[in-house]
Amino acid sequence: MGQFLFTIGWLALCYLLGSVPFGLVIGQAACRIDPRHYGSRNTGATNVARTCGTKYGVGTLLLDIGKGGVPVALAMVVSTSPWFLSLTGAAVLLGHMFSVFLDGKGGKGVATTIGVFLVLSFWPLFWSLVLCLLLIWWTGFVSVGSLALVTALPVLLAVFGQWGFVPLALVVLLLVYWRHRENIERLAKGAENPWR
Ligand code: G3P
Repeated sequence: MGQFLFTIGWLALCYLLGSVPFGLVIGQAACRIDPRHYGSRNTGATNVARTCGTKYGVGTLLLDIGKGGVPVALAMVVSTSPWFLSLTGAAVLLGHMFSVFLDGKGGKGVATTIGVFLVLSFWPLFWSLVLCLLLIWWTGFVSVGSLALVTALPVLLAVFGQWGFVPLALVVLLLVYWRHRENIERLAKGAENPWR
């Protein structure tokens, strides 16, 4: 019973941390811009860079990566169970994408996914990130790289034998595609926003 309550409390805390919209905080504090009203209207690093400036985008990126990585690293101190670690990652990601502070709205989840898997499973994340960066460089669209990253991740986890984290990566894949549905429509029409 104690362990169950601890797990529920921990996951609630992770959801709350995930809900903190760093992109919105940085946009408003640094350049008095609400990124939800400009560009792609997303609160993520790409749109903060686009609407507020590259350095603020990088700041948002690092904070959103940290928001994913730190709770998973702390969870590893308590347990090595792939389910507990995956639930921790899922709670942070759900907070980020469906924030309690933004009426259930939120970011697209890519930077936070990078943070979660940086800690959970470094090499699959590393190669997914290489693919992502190559595609951003090649196409000029962050969304193409983001979608490639979450598509490659479950495949590479399987290739590296990290089966315990494949269910989380598949949930992430679905959520990130869902959050990118407007990007996918724009890409299909040839009308996607460049990264800046
Ligand atoms: O991670 C978000 C990125 O893939 C797309 O961002 O602002 O171009 O919709 P944005």
